[in-house]
Order: sequence, then C-alpha cells, then structure tokens
Amino acid sequence: MTAQSRDILVTSALPYANGPIHLGHLVEYIQTDIWVRFQKARGHRCLYVCADDAHGTPIMLKARSEGIPPEELIERVGQEHQRDFADFLVGFDHYHSTHSPENRHFAELIYNRLKDQGHITRRTIRQAYDPEAGMFLPDRFIKGECPRCGAPDQYGDSCEACGATYTPTDLKHPVSAISGATPVERESEHFFFRLADFEGMLRDWTASGSLQDGIRNKLREWFEAGLNDWDISRDAPYWGFEIPDAPGKFFYVWLDAPIGYMASFRHYCDRHGLDFDAWWGADSRAELHHFIGKDIAYFHTLFWPAMLHGAGFRTPTAVHCHGFLTVNGQKMSKSRGTFIQARTYLEHLQPEYLRYYFAAKLGSGVDDIDLSLEDFTARVNSDLVGKVVNIASRCAGFIQKRFDGRLADTLPDADLYDRFRRAGEEIARLYEAREFAQAMREIMALADVANQYVDEQKPWVLAREEDTLPRVQGICTQGLNLFRVLMAYLKPVLPAMAARAETFLDIPPLTWADVEEPLTASRIRPYEPLMTRVDPKAVQALLEASRENLQPAQTAVPEGPLTRDPIREEIAFEDFAKVDLRIARIQKAEHVEGADKLLRLTLDLGGETRQVFAGIKAAYDPASLQGRLTVMVANLAPRKMKFGLSEGMVLAAGPGGKDLFILSPDTGAEPGMRVK
Ligand code: 2FM
Ligand code: ZN
Repeated sequence: MTAQSRDILVTSALPYANGPIHLGHLVEYIQTDIWVRFQKARGHRCLYVCADDAHGTPIMLKARSEGIPPEELIERVGQEHQRDFADFLVGFDHYHSTHSPENRHFAELIYNRLKDQGHITRRTIRQAYDPEAGMFLPDRFIKGECPRCGAPDQYGDSCEACGATYTPTDLKHPVSAISGATPVERESEHFFFRLADFEGMLRDWTASGSLQDGIRNKLREWFEAGLNDWDISRDAPYWGFEIPDAPGKFFYVWLDAPIGYMASFRHYCDRHGLDFDAWWGADSRAELHHFIGKDIAYFHTLFWPAMLHGAGFRTPTAVHCHGFLTVNGQKMSKSRGTFIQARTYLEHLQPEYLRYYFAAKLGSGVDDIDLSLEDFTARVNSDLVGKVVNIASRCAGFIQKRFDGRLADTLPDADLYDRFRRAGEEIARLYEAREFAQAMREIMALADVANQYVDEQKPWVLAREEDTLPRVQGICTQGLNLFRVLMAYLKPVLPAMAARAETFLDIPPLTWADVEEPLTASRIRPYEPLMTRVDPKAVQALLEASRENLQPAQTAVPEGPLTRDPIREEIAFEDFAKVDLRIARIQKAEHVEGADKLLRLTLDLGGETRQVFAGIKAAYDPASLQGRLTVMVANLAPRKMKFGLSEGMVLAAGPGGKDLFILSPDTGAEPGMRVK
C-alpha cells in the first residue's frame, strides 16, 4: 500500500487580480486540486497554496479607471477569486496575495542575495514614454501601423494581420493606448538579472526529470538561442514593490509573482507552526510541484529556478505544464458565448460536472483540451449518473426496505471485491502521473463490471420469493461495496459527491486505504440522489448568459437606465477605439410586423446601405425619421434576428420608452462621415 509518507508542496499559477476567473483558468486549478486531493487521500502531507497576482501596470490602470486605489481593487477581486475557487471545490490550504508583507520580505531578500552575488546589473535603455500620461509604456500599450504590411491598430510587439514581430519603436504612427498621445523615446536605467550566470545549473536541473518532454525540448531551444539578461525593474508610476535603495524603481510584476508561492506558504507556516526552511531550504527533502499553463513556462523553468538557486533556496521538484482550453473546438469567444466565467457557470451547472469532465480529458501532456458541450452533457450523464450513481441507487432500496438498512455480514463474491481493491494501485499510478483521463477510464470500466454484476444477479427477481430474499441482502451489500470502492477512487475529482456517499453509507471520510476492507454488518442511511443529470437546457442557458456584445439592436436601447443598475464594466481605450461610429441618413423607417418595440431602418452610409432594427417604436413615428441623420456603429458584426439581419446599431440617448433620441444635427454632417 501507501509507501512512506511524503511532504509535498503544490502551487497553481497566481491569477491576476484584475479580472474574473473563467473556465480557461479552471483547467489548471481543477487539475492541481485533483492531484492534491489524491496525495492527501494517500496519506501524504500535501499542502496546496496559491495567491492573487496583485501587481503591475494593467492592475494600476484598471484601478485608476475605476477611480479607486489599487489596494481596493485587489482586495475586491481577491475575494471574488476565492469565492469562485471555493465554489468549484478547489481546496487551497492557503490563499494569499503578492501584495503582502511576506512577499515584500522575500522579494527583497532574493533580490539582495542575487545582487550581493553579482547577478544583478544595471544599464540604461531607451523606451517608449507617454508624455501625456507621464509614464513609460509596456509594449502592449502602444498601437500603430504594422511596419511590414501597414495594417492599422497593431500592438507594439507583433502584427495580428501578417504575423510580423518587432519592437514598438518600429511601429508607424504609434499611439499610446492609455492617452492616445504619440509616444516619445526616453532613457532610463533598468536593473537586470543575469540569467546566463545560471546556464550550467539550469541544464542540470532540466536533466533531473523535472519537466515534461515537450518543455525540456523547448528549453534546449532556449539554451541554443542563448540566455539573455532579464529586465526586472520598472519606473514609477508603477504598482508594485519599490526596489531597496533605488527610489522610483519597482520590481517588475513577474519578479515578485512566483515569489508569491513562498509568501503564501510562509503565511501558512506562521499560522500552523511549520518550519518554512525545512520546505524551502537548499537541502530540503520536501517536494515542490508547480502547475502552470504552457505559456508561462519560460518564467517557471528559467528565471524562477535560477533565482531560487542564486538566492540559496531549493529548486522545484517539477513544473507541470498544461495546454489551453478550447470550447466546442474553438478558442473561447465572447460572441459565441463560450467565454464562460466561473460565476456564470455556477449559476447554471454543478461544479462537479466540470471537474469530472476535465478529469476525463486531462493527460500529463501539454495538449490543449476541448470542452465540447454536447460531449460534456453526454459524458457526465452516462458515466456519473448512468454508471456510478446507478449502482448505489439500484442496491440501496432493497437494503433499506427489506433489511432495515442493514448490510450483510459477508460479501457473496469476495473475489470480485478483491479485483476492485487491486485495481487501486494502477489507478493510483495514473493519478500520480497526472494521467487523469486514463484513471477515469479504468474507474468507469469497473463501474460497468459492477452494474453487470447487479444485472446478472437480478436482486429484483430474487426479492419476490421468500426463500431467495436472503440472497438479496448479500448481492446489494456487494453492489454497495463496489460502489464504495469507486467513490474512494473518484473522491479526488468529486469530493462533494463522495461526501454525500459517505453520509449515505454512514462512514467516516473515505481514504484510499479504506478500500482494503469491505463494509459489512453496518447500517446505511436512507438513499438520497447523489448526483442529478446535466440538463441540456441549463447548458444552453449558460451559453446565452455568456454571450456578450451581439445583443439585438433593440436591447442596446436601455429601457430605463436611471432605474436599472448601471453597467459599470470598464473598457480600455483601445477597445473604444475599435468602435467605428458613422453618420448615416435614414432612407427608410418602417414598422415591423409582429414586433412591439422595433422599427426597421434602412440607413445610407454614403454609398452603402444597411438594414438595422432599433427598439425605438415608442419614441418615433417612422415617417418623422425619413431623410434625417443619425449616428450608427458601423463595424458591429451583423446579427440574425427574428425579423431579419441587423447590420449595425444606432446610438440612442434618454431614459427609454417615449423619451429616446437618435437623431444627429443635420448641420455640416454627411452620411458616411466618421464621428470622433
Ligand atoms: O500569467 C498569469 O496569469 C500570471 N499572473 C501567472 C503568475 S504565476 C506565478 F509566477 F506567480
Ligand atoms: Zn503586418
């Protein structure tokens, strides 16, 4: 059975404190949580820590745009994140913030040690500066024309149209995405971490079996390309920790983010009287496992182990990378309703459906995984409800009604039980290796065997005759024992369902070792459904609730903005800049048969005509609109509505109903003109 107990510290990547958790994030937290729960069930001392990643320019700007201090933003978002994780049954031992005294302590300590060893260097660099906003601009905050193909509105690092990569200074007609000003070049002294000092150590660490094959190959490429100095400082104004003895210079968010793993654990140690150094000291015997997405492997497999080693700490035992999530075979998309936030999911579906589905798809590699919603519904219903729950629900009634809830003293088929017990080693091996999909397949194959057993024994037939009735108790006790073993194996994935099964079987919390002995001669409690079927209607409702942006034209006209909750979601300047507002002449305005609120408008955009449905029937007599000018969003994706295609939206102001105004003054405006 379980070999010697191990000490295992586990982390997931720290989510940024400026946006909500979505299903893409959850792949990682669910994967990690399953692994952690498995380790705990096996009797190891396994601790799972995480934190919010609370620093950096985007968080600073988001707080500014909300008119609140960053402390308030990160506190609020941190709370939301923790609530989402808890509701998805992600069981952190501690959840912290990188904006914490512990993190400042370790960031300064590591930096000072690296500096003392000569691994930090300084040099002056030239960088884009926004003279209006008074700050240096990260590459993502500069937009302009692609130097290669001339596509407008491209980010400062690469062109989405032709794929060219470049530096922001190469952009033609660059503008700051913060203020719209033209950036100028400015010099500033930056601090660098000399990564190349650690090449030998990193090569050894890479060879020590800490990485998946694909990632190891990637590292080889990075070594070949040469390890560059890493820029770890940012100039004020910046939201983060100021660098000791360097006023106006701050640690770049990616320096203190992974240090947040240590900070979170330090906090845990202080609360629980654990020896931090036994886990993080250079000669620690504890294991350290980081679960991350493949996109941030560079930070975790180069900078992070090098920083740790350089500062006299242990290096990670392993970095486990996973792929991205697609939904219905495509990148998650707000317009398709597949960019699903954790909270929206929870409003429609149970968390364990998703935990099981992800488990059934996850392997140890870095391949992307797809959430096909049809497959999701079918899989959960067939495996969990149709197979696993079915075993319990078929056997429970007989034990309850015919035997007063009492299980038989022995199992009629001890060999079959033994087969289930022995399967545990292989399933454990698969969990350990993060081959969850294979583990789920093994477990479902056993569930099939258990159902087959009940099918063949036909307790419902035996229960009809007095002389065969006693056998029913044994058969159903056997069935419930097979179910109990399966629940022990599924518990890392389905902790809440396992808890319901424990209540039903009236047993203490199941561990892996509990399957050694069957459960006999005890009493069970009345059966209550352990899991209900996924309702395809709830899945549809989830997609609808997640669909953004393609609202039909009439809903763009608020019915009464003063009486509703204002929609406060901020958009970045760059998002606003994408909206193409044009003057349009209303060629025709007509009633729409069967529509209570809509008018059909035919709009002339200076040569091009568009049909738009607008919810303005109460405010305007169609005849009064013809020939007048209005402002429309000209680059909105067309939307199919009940009454036809709507090819844009007209802007309206006012409280709604009769009081809505869509007309633009006629003076000096021409159809097709851009509105600024
Ligand atoms: O990519 C991200 O979302 C980062 N916030 C992950 C940080 S992980 C760790 F290094 F802190
Ligand atoms: Zn281009």
